[in-house]
Amino acid sequence: MCGIVGFIGAEEAGPILLDGLSRLEYRGYDSAGLAIYGAGQGLQVVKAKGRLKVLSDLTQGGAAIHGSVGLGHTRWATHGEPSDVNSHPQVSGDGRFAVVHNGIIENYVEIKEFLERKGVRFVSQTDTEVVAQLLEYYYTGDLLGAVSKVLHRIDGAYAFGIICADCPDKLVAVRKDSPLILGHGEGFNLLASDVTAVIKYTREVSYLDDGEVAVLTTDGVQVYDAYLQPTEKELCHVDWEISAAEKGGYEHFMAKEIMEQPEAFRKTVFPRLKDGRVVLDDLHFDQAYLRGMDKLYVIACGSSYHVGMAAKYNLEKLLRKPVEVTLASEFRYCDPIVTENTLTLVISQSGETIDTLAAMREARRLGARVLSVVNVVGSTIARESDDVIYTWAGPEIAVATTKAYSTQLAVTYLVGLYFADLLGTISPEEYEAVVSELLLLPTKLEAVLEQRERIQYMASLYFNHPSIFFIGRNLDYAVGLEGSLKLKEISYIHSEAYAAGELKHGTISLIEPGTLVVALASYTPLFEKLMSNVVEVKSRGADVLGLTVESRGDDMAKTVDHTIRVPDTHPMLLPSLDVLPLQLFAYYVALQRGCDIDKPRNLAKSVTVE
Ligand code: G6P
Repeated sequence: MCGIVGFIGAEEAGPILLDGLSRLEYRGYDSAGLAIYGAGQGLQVVKAKGRLKVLSDLTQGGAAIHGSVGLGHTRWATHGEPSDVNSHPQVSGDGRFAVVHNGIIENYVEIKEFLERKGVRFVSQTDTEVVAQLLEYYYTGDLLGAVSKVLHRIDGAYAFGIICADCPDKLVAVRKDSPLILGHGEGFNLLASDVTAVIKYTREVSYLDDGEVAVLTTDGVQVYDAYLQPTEKELCHVDWEISAAEKGGYEHFMAKEIMEQPEAFRKTVFPRLKDGRVVLDDLHFDQAYLRGMDKLYVIACGSSYHVGMAAKYNLEKLLRKPVEVTLASEFRYCDPIVTENTLTLVISQSGETIDTLAAMREARRLGARVLSVVNVVGSTIARESDDVIYTWAGPEIAVATTKAYSTQLAVTYLVGLYFADLLGTISPEEYEAVVSELLLLPTKLEAVLEQRERIQYMASLYFNHPSIFFIGRNLDYAVGLEGSLKLKEISYIHSEAYAAGELKHGTISLIEPGTLVVALASYTPLFEKLMSNVVEVKSRGADVLGLTVESRGDDMAKTVDHTIRVPDTHPMLLPSLDVLPLQLFAYYVALQRGCDIDKPRNLAKSVTVE
């Protein structure tokens, strides 16, 4: 959701804050703002609706506002439409406090009414202004005391950066259920929603925990627990290269990240394959636990949920245990049947998605063990899991996920093999066959990416279609879900993915001459069945874009309008190959339509509100 950055040091804060915000813009981009304290100038606040560029132009890249302590914010609106006045920082009536916020204050209406009765006048529709005004209300000269009172008064999820004109040598950072990290430098310190905003300045970071409050000065950082008792934080070194968070010559982050997938796959999988065996040193499972496991519950949102859908087919086949995949937002409130013998597999790129985090906490409360698959090191989900296995995709910036999805898939293959081996449900021959194919997969991924011009051509034929359907069976269905989501996220074309056999139970009524159907038929055990569904849509006039493996390409080409072929591989690994043409298709369709690919409307990369 929103992006927060704060700086305190000797240099001018403006350009540093804007640079940090530019790396966080993927979190929200409907408006942005800065609050900077300058000696003799007091607290200066500049806010602007629209992309960060508007704010940057307004402030000459931050250089027009002087001062060496400040906060910046890029917003994804929740309460109050995107506008100058609703942008953050929100300021108290007396101009003493400026607050940037990520999250939602659930009881803001009640607090607002309380303050209004005391004569406070509100200027915005945001829940955040309540916090700025409440700080003013409680402030009697003790900054931390006022912050503490506010925290006791508010409910909800939040990360705050707070600056007070009375204490310009301090920045305050607070978090509960919304990410916030601290960047530790020499003679300066930073706070931010995400490490990408600070790694240009420092690689030493610490992660605030729920309820903690940090006070940053030029020379140090002091963290307090919820009772304002000083507490020590462990420093972590981030070894991401700054270039990993830059476009590197590509027009869009999404294009770069699509092309990075073979390498991301190698980085995630190869160190975990030793002498033909899957070695997961990070995990602590034994045969007795797995034998007693009654169910594997996969919990995730968005594309991570689609990884879970693919994993279900593979894991049930490999482990002969029931696997239930559920949307985290549903799991929270469905009274799930979870026992201490249930393993929950929590999948999240960011490790901060609020629904996934809350579902995970609920699963743990019910006694389940949690294994998480996470990309962002040190994120809340990773820290709160019993076991975590990292995807090593590097930072993913484009809102529409690609390389994180691919590496999550890769990890599910490894987990499947590792568990099946422990359980004895896989034959040595099958195990070896999958491992050999895993080693070949990056080269095969590269071969698929080489077809990008052909896929661009196909996109040019269909980019103005109002509606596009994806059909598939088994693993192909799971990949179709992701292909359809990718397309609608970034191109705004209506799209649906269907289990091909289900089409005739309703959706086929939407097929008319010229409708585009993307038919996935790479899962060869069901190739003929899928082709029957292709014939059904063809006979109603649909154009069909077929996707299958090389060995069935000629068969498919006889019936469909265009065929994309991916190399044959072990069936379990097909999703990794199949998803690439669909990502490319979505990308090129969106490009033709002139869409803002890396920052699609209404979306945000990290969804930290319910
Ligand atoms: C957002 C992103 C999606 C992502 C989903 C879950 O909606 O735009 O790309 O799949 O959140 O995010 P997570 O970080 O938990 O994988």
